Amino acid sequence: MFRLIHISDLHLGPLPAARIRDLASKRIIGYVNWRRNRSRTFGDDVEAALIAAIAAERPDHIAVTGDLVNIALAGEFATASAFLGLIGPAEAVSAVPGNHDAYVPGAARRARKSWSAYMTADDGEADGWPYVRRRGDVVIVGVSSAVATGPFMATGSFSEKQEKRLAEILDKLGRAGLCRVVLIHHPPVKGATAWHKRLSGAARFRKVVARHGAELILHGHTHKPTRLSIPGPTGDVPVIGAPAATQRPDGRHPAAGFNLFDIERVDGGFHLRHRLMQVVPGGGFVETRAEEIVSAASVSPAP
Ligand SMILES: [Fe+2]
Ligand SMILES: [Fe+2]
Repeated sequence: MFRLIHISDLHLGPLPAARIRDLASKRIIGYVNWRRNRSRTFGDDVEAALIAAIAAERPDHIAVTGDLVNIALAGEFATASAFLGLIGPAEAVSAVPGNHDAYVPGAARRARKSWSAYMTADDGEADGWPYVRRRGDVVIVGVSSAVATGPFMATGSFSEKQEKRLAEILDKLGRAGLCRVVLIHHPPVKGATAWHKRLSGAARFRKVVARHGAELILHGHTHKPTRLSIPGPTGDVPVIGAPAATQRPDGRHPAAGFNLFDIERVDGGFHLRHRLMQVVPGGGFVETRAEEIVSAASVSPAP
């Protein structure tokens, strides 16, 4: 049995003191937004409880689907690196960036560099996307949808270059009969977000999965614990979102939580037991949803 934990959208605080020069961009809006809202609703207390709850589950691996920071100031990357170091060793933690990690031009590159230990492929490559990290029967495929956008936009992008590479990766790993877990910050499902938060190239992503398959797709961005699906070659592929991982239980937003998957190989595919764990007032994490997922076949058909 392989235990995988999925967290997303940490939006870690507090923000380091920003110089006016650093704020002369889209960051001004993000900074004001942080002061007004996020600093009240995202909490250090929840962060500490989250780290303890993750450790208590003794996961084999942890997937982090982006938005670790807020407006991509240098000090925020260091805070996020410290957090990643607290939840597990780099070989047991895989991350992909979100739009907040790519908040301004150049930030996406800085995210990759700062968190390279969590994004380096098994073959040592620490640059291209997607990356592949195999852990037993489970293989993590990290896709980046993070791009800098204009003010009031939070879109993502799945490029043709990644499409070609993802197709090759999923095909090869499917033939090897592995449990393919794809990480992407933006949900690749039609209508899953407002227009200004959508994933451009989502149809391209869905086309790759429809043809080559995947056992599980994990995303963040919506801050909601959703269970959607997209078609694969042998049946629907589950697309599972996570609430923002440090969201205080305020009754207005989905409370902080994480997805927990116990993965087992069964005849002709994999069995996944999925549980959603969410924080309750007082600080503990409790199970709020459980379901069984059976992937009928992990081998993609011949082209
Ligand atoms: Fe987010
Ligand atoms: Fe996001």
